[in-house]
Amino acid sequence: MSEEPVSVLFVCLGNICRSPLAEGVFRSLVAEAGLEHRFEIDSAGTSGWHDGEPPDARTLAVALRRGVELTRISRRVTDSDLQRFRHILAMDGDNLRELQRRAARTAPQADVRLLRDFDSAADSRRDIPDPYFGGTDGFEDVHDIVDRSCRGLLAELRARYGL
Ligand code: 4NP
Repeated sequence: MSEEPVSVLFVCLGNICRSPLAEGVFRSLVAEAGLEHRFEIDSAGTSGWHDGEPPDARTLAVALRRGVELTRISRRVTDSDLQRFRHILAMDGDNLRELQRRAARTAPQADVRLLRDFDSAADSRRDIPDPYFGGTDGFEDVHDIVDRSCRGLLAELRARYGL
């Protein structure tokens, strides 16, 4: 069995709401499973609009209420991310199309998918809604979706890599 870490990158638009939350939740699930040493986990945004900023205060609050501390700083996704990370999880269809367009040029081997494909309770909706312009409820909903999806993703990766 290869000891190469399984690399996972979460991507949204601003890297201040959905993807830092997904990164933090996935990190905490991986830690709970005692698998930190087997994963490399990060997040980024397609826009770069909030480069250098911490996560949105509402994201931080929702995460903390659920016991997850987020310490990352926003950054824009790079071509070298697309080449380096094996599993790239987009939060919505816009992010997915942007990443697929870029990966087609620079990282044809990248496995780019929607995070919500792993949501056990998802109906036909596959986007994780952008909560930025809404109220606190939206952030709670996003957390629930992200939590279910990250559990599904981890189960899939554990089965795939025999972890
Ligand atoms: P995120 O949310 O993509 O989940 O980080 C957003 C953050 C900022 C903006 C849009 C979405 N914005 O328009 O600045």
